[in-house]
Amino acid sequence: MSINSKSSKNLNRLENILIIGNGGRENSLAWVIQKNELVKKVYLIPGNAGSERINKCERIKIDINNKIELVKKLDFLKIDLIVIGPEIHLANGLADFLRKKDFKVFGPGKDGAKLEYSKSWAKEFMKDANIPTANFWKVNSFEEAKQIIHSSSMPLVVKVDGLASGKGVFIPDSKDECFRAAESIFNGKFGKSGNVVVLEEKIQGPEVSIFALCDGKKYILLPTAQDHKRLNENDKGPNTGGMGAYSPAPLLTEDYLDRVIKEIIEPTIVELNRKNIDYKGVIYFGLMLTKSGPKVIEYNCRFGDPECQTIMPLMDQNFVLLLDKCSMGNLNGDEKIDTFDKVSGCVIATSKGYPNEYKIGFPIKIGEIDSCECQIFDSGTSLSKNGQLLTDGGRVLSIVCQDKDFDKVFEKAYRNLKEINFDGMYFRNDIGHQVRKTLSKEN
Ligand code: AMP
Ligand code: GLY
Repeated sequence: MSINSKSSKNLNRLENILIIGNGGRENSLAWVIQKNELVKKVYLIPGNAGSERINKCERIKIDINNKIELVKKLDFLKIDLIVIGPEIHLANGLADFLRKKDFKVFGPGKDGAKLEYSKSWAKEFMKDANIPTANFWKVNSFEEAKQIIHSSSMPLVVKVDGLASGKGVFIPDSKDECFRAAESIFNGKFGKSGNVVVLEEKIQGPEVSIFALCDGKKYILLPTAQDHKRLNENDKGPNTGGMGAYSPAPLLTEDYLDRVIKEIIEPTIVELNRKNIDYKGVIYFGLMLTKSGPKVIEYNCRFGDPECQTIMPLMDQNFVLLLDKCSMGNLNGDEKIDTFDKVSGCVIATSKGYPNEYKIGFPIKIGEIDSCECQIFDSGTSLSKNGQLLTDGGRVLSIVCQDKDFDKVFEKAYRNLKEINFDGMYFRNDIGHQVRKTLSKEN
């Protein structure tokens, strides 16, 4: 028996919103969602220490895997819309479960989340729809991988098929490294996620992130963004979840974006429909702009982090209405997003050691922060018993600023960063180097 009955729900109501997740991404979603006057309360499960600094926000302590208690609680709170942040819950079918209980949910079901949780499936999907992407081979054993690596003239990119917390992609410089990467995966380094491996031709070009809000049939695009995946300045060092971002990405001119829409975005929506996948959520297109045109590097079934923190301050109070329309399959597809003619940039402050081993629990001191067009979204923080803000993750804080141009944005972001301090704090000084005239260096 369904605990909820459809008749008990007022589909037009948007008083109580639930966001699932605990990062900077979810805090930025909460921050923009609460701006709408229809919204009375934004709950986060579990959120982090920064969540309750956001207007109307409250954290809920509940085990998300205890489905009976979860539904009871959401009914009690009269939740009108649920936004699911992290891919793991989407891959586990949480959106399907909650929809079955008659909740409105922004986030794809398990079938749509497969775009992210199986790289080989996503590659086959692109092949079926003739969507440009790097050539690839799906392999099921180290023996098979060896043969392909051996016969290739270039070192290949080696990818774990399943979810790997952003650590499952190897970009070797030599065939030897390729062998070692494939061997480590098939030896169980990533558990079941590594039962299948995707080998890919290495392609080159700047990367951009595009986000399409989808209602199952129609979609609208958010401003584009560019992430900075590498740990160190000049895009050196290991891959991370993202050290900073800016939006929009001027690399994607109107004409180029039209090409991306025609060659990649629309064919993706058409193929989802052809496969009977009712995708109600965001599709994150990770693209590489190569000499021969745009190619999909990866799909994700969620907002990017830190792209989300960067883009949300460009949204107005109607953003939640877009999520709601998507959840109900009611998007017109021609909704206009007003970004106030502003651009936005984000710098992530991380813990020393990230993306590898790092310590947590260091007190965070925050001085005078600009009150206008400057936000701090906590990415990984907690509170001590006496209310002191502490580091609680590899990525600790997202400092986000908006202004008329990127020079002003990053001047403001770095000026405000000087007001923040914790033991082992590390950040890149060159976020936005592609668009800062003072640091101009086209990638
Ligand atoms: P992914 O987790 O698939 O986004 O991959 C992480 C990063 O690896 C991407 O952002 C790219 O910088 C790089 N990468 C992935 N696939 C390729 C490829 N086929 N060729 C070159 N670089 C790649
Ligand atoms: N910023 C990259 C990601 O969210 O995967």
